[in-house]
Amino acid sequence: MSDITKFSVSDLNLFYGSFQALKNINMEIPKGQITAFIGPSGCGKSTFLKTINRMNDLIEGVKITGEITMDGVDIYKDMDAIKLRTRVGMVFQQPNPFPMSIYDNVAYGPRIHGIRKKNALDEIVEKSLKQAAIWDEVKDKLKKSALAVSGGQQQRICIARTLAIEPEVILMDEPTSALDPISTLKIEDLATELKQFYTIIIVTHNMQQAGRISDKTAFFLTGEVIEYGETEQIFNKPRNKKTEDYITGRFG
Ligand SMILES: Nc1ncnc2c1ncn2[C@@H]1O[C@H](COP(=O)(O)OP(=O)(O)OP(=O)(O)O)[C@@H](O)[C@H]1O
Ligand SMILES: [Mg+2]
Repeated sequence: MSDITKFSVSDLNLFYGSFQALKNINMEIPKGQITAFIGPSGCGKSTFLKTINRMNDLIEGVKITGEITMDGVDIYKDMDAIKLRTRVGMVFQQPNPFPMSIYDNVAYGPRIHGIRKKNALDEIVEKSLKQAAIWDEVKDKLKKSALAVSGGQQQRICIARTLAIEPEVILMDEPTSALDPISTLKIEDLATELKQFYTIIIVTHNMQQAGRISDKTAFFLTGEVIEYGETEQIFNKPRNKKTEDYITGRFG
């Protein structure tokens, strides 16, 4: 299967003030696959992830050079950041449901986009919760607070909230690090399910997780991409000694 490029990153640099957090990143991220970012703490994984939906634009003193295109369009020069974020959704490390009902969490985005009719919203809420593999667990308590369920359930509600705006891409920053093993497996299964409809990019500290679910893996170290390729190759035949040391647990 040949890859169709979703994002093309060229000579990307990012500075927080005078500190350079990303150094000359070049990467083609394929459509309809799961790409994992791995590497030790502080190496720039989250920073890079956030450049993809321009979340860093919101931070003062950030300077970005280079280019990221999505489907060939420059996301910094030729795209509105708000519009970009409706196409590129994000799920964070800590489940962060809004302090409102499960239903209202999932209906939040569609409502902002002007969907008001109850039956249309009902349909979106049900579809999104089903896609996020949480419908059966919450269908009888949709009007209850989203904060009154387990962490693993909250995270799947957050995924449903992201899916409800029908993005093309889902960015996940260590989405399972606050979860128990069973919830973690549910999210992993879910990601594998969802990749037929979405492009998924996931940051993880869990090597087994990267090995289990991703098609491509990028290894980051101090702001650089040291090695990027098929997950299979990165884990079994790393070309770079630093990748090998990290994968085999010699540092990081
Ligand atoms: N808002 C910010 N202002 C200044 N420096 C920052 C900011 N955010 C991150 N950094 C720095 O940029 C570098 C990369 O941080 P980043 O959060 O991208 O790392 P990470 O690989 O996601 O780490 P972790 O695995 O711990 O989440 C770190 O040195 C960090 O201290
Ligand atoms: Mg991070």
